Amino acid sequence: MVIYFSSLIVPLFSTIFFIIFLYKWRYNTASKPRKTLPPSPRKLPIIGNLHQVTSHPHRFFHSLSKRYGPLLMVHFGSTPVLVASSADAAREIMKNQDLIFASRPKIAVAEKMVYGAKDVAFAPYSEYWRQMRSICVLHLLSNKRVQSFRHVREEETSAMIERIRESGSAAVDFSAMFSSLTNDVLCRVVLGKKYGQFKDFIRRATEVIGTPNIGDYFPWLAWINKINGFDSKVDNVCKDFDEFLVNVIKNHRDEEEQGKKNEGSNFVEILLEFQRDNKNTSPIEDEALKALLMDMFVGGTDTSQTLLEWTLAELLKHPKVMKKLQKEIRQIASTKQDITEDDLENMHYLKAVMKESLRLHPPIPLLVPRVASVDTNVLGYDVAAGTQVFISAWTIGRDPSLWKDPEEFDPERFFETSIDFRGFHFEFTPFGAGRRGCPGVAFAIHLDELALAKLLHKFDFMLPDGVKEEDLDMTDGIGMTVHKNIPVSAVVVAAVSPLVEEY
Ligand code: HEM
Repeated sequence: MVIYFSSLIVPLFSTIFFIIFLYKWRYNTASKPRKTLPPSPRKLPIIGNLHQVTSHPHRFFHSLSKRYGPLLMVHFGSTPVLVASSADAAREIMKNQDLIFASRPKIAVAEKMVYGAKDVAFAPYSEYWRQMRSICVLHLLSNKRVQSFRHVREEETSAMIERIRESGSAAVDFSAMFSSLTNDVLCRVVLGKKYGQFKDFIRRATEVIGTPNIGDYFPWLAWINKINGFDSKVDNVCKDFDEFLVNVIKNHRDEEEQGKKNEGSNFVEILLEFQRDNKNTSPIEDEALKALLMDMFVGGTDTSQTLLEWTLAELLKHPKVMKKLQKEIRQIASTKQDITEDDLENMHYLKAVMKESLRLHPPIPLLVPRVASVDTNVLGYDVAAGTQVFISAWTIGRDPSLWKDPEEFDPERFFETSIDFRGFHFEFTPFGAGRRGCPGVAFAIHLDELALAKLLHKFDFMLPDGVKEEDLDMTDGIGMTVHKNIPVSAVVVAAVSPLVEEY
């Protein structure tokens, strides 16, 4: 009897499993509507498309978009990644469905640097982010506040001109000059004075944030970061930066207690004041305050430096454009010793040059990644909740259906259009757009326009020995913010005549 029963039980269970399998298969294929996924290249099990990604992801996505179209999907490990490469796709994500795409994916290193995403840039979309963003927009980066730091920009750009003058006939490393300028300005605006070690902190911070982290896509492989030393590198940067900020904040509090308060003169003061005034209603703790300061440094230094680097490189490569811009600047400043921010208003060619540089070299070519918070549909394709999203401002800026001769550096194209970069024109979004758009646009543009105008007012430029305009290296560096691969350098001579002869 027992033998008879056991000989029945195996086929019985097999039959039940087979029926369940058939039912599930039918349910999955028939009753569920089929998904229309964006086109994607073949992927491998486990790693997805990671083996194909190159050191320049914006170029990799650019070549994929030529083959698969303006909305495509790749997989980083098991994480689906949507890449948007057209103005329509960008508009859909950053405007029509902005709320759905208003969160950020988890980036372990960045989160660690900013005390567990207690900042603005990496915080998930939430009431907390809204509060922090409004502090940032209303108290730190409003137009009025940016204006109030005009003296810092004017003093520090003049100091840069002096440093360049001192270099005599040797080639000037302008990448290093722009790095010092942006660091010094941010240091004074954010902390109240310049600190020697600050530049090194920022360099280390941006380096670890920009390093691809295996643990983000394969949490089960995160242990590798312990062995290869990456974790301890990150820990050291975080520790050093934290000690530094704790000290700066303590010094400010001490000064306050001693009655040496100087309200509103830098971001630390402003945030401490906000902390005091709101301690009963919407308190911000010290960690949030430090995270916000960190955002300002990391968001504001590297990006503004990169924009200046690429702009000067394009001007050196295009001497006619350089002369034309010098002419405009020197005409407007003809009777003056020094250019001030008031003069910038009328420098229309300068503004066009900046735009053209941002079109061809958006400092963050893929913007800061976002994530879909719910299942949705973008331009006819299904996109699942949790999908990461990159918007390729780099590819959109080169779209031949939007830009005539897109690879040409031709600032005058901006005289024929009202397109600008403030997040309303989706064919041109170097600062992103919508809820997550960059709040530092005014800050960056004021500084970079002034720096460039002063530079071209005071100097004429020559390429270092033997380098011809057409041979000038224009390759990209690596990282989230894409610098020029090779620093931009030139020999300068003091401009003798205020006006440049007609080219
Ligand atoms: C040329 C200079 C700059 C460029 C190209 C740039 C670009 C960007 C981009 C592309 C984003 C992401 C936008 C999005 O997701 O839609 C962003 C976000 C951000 N930027 Fe900038 N930025 C620049 C300067 C600055 C400056 C000077 C500051 C502050 C001092 C700043 C602070 C921030 C912050 C806090 C965010 C995060 C916003 C959020 O997630 O809500 N940026 N920036």
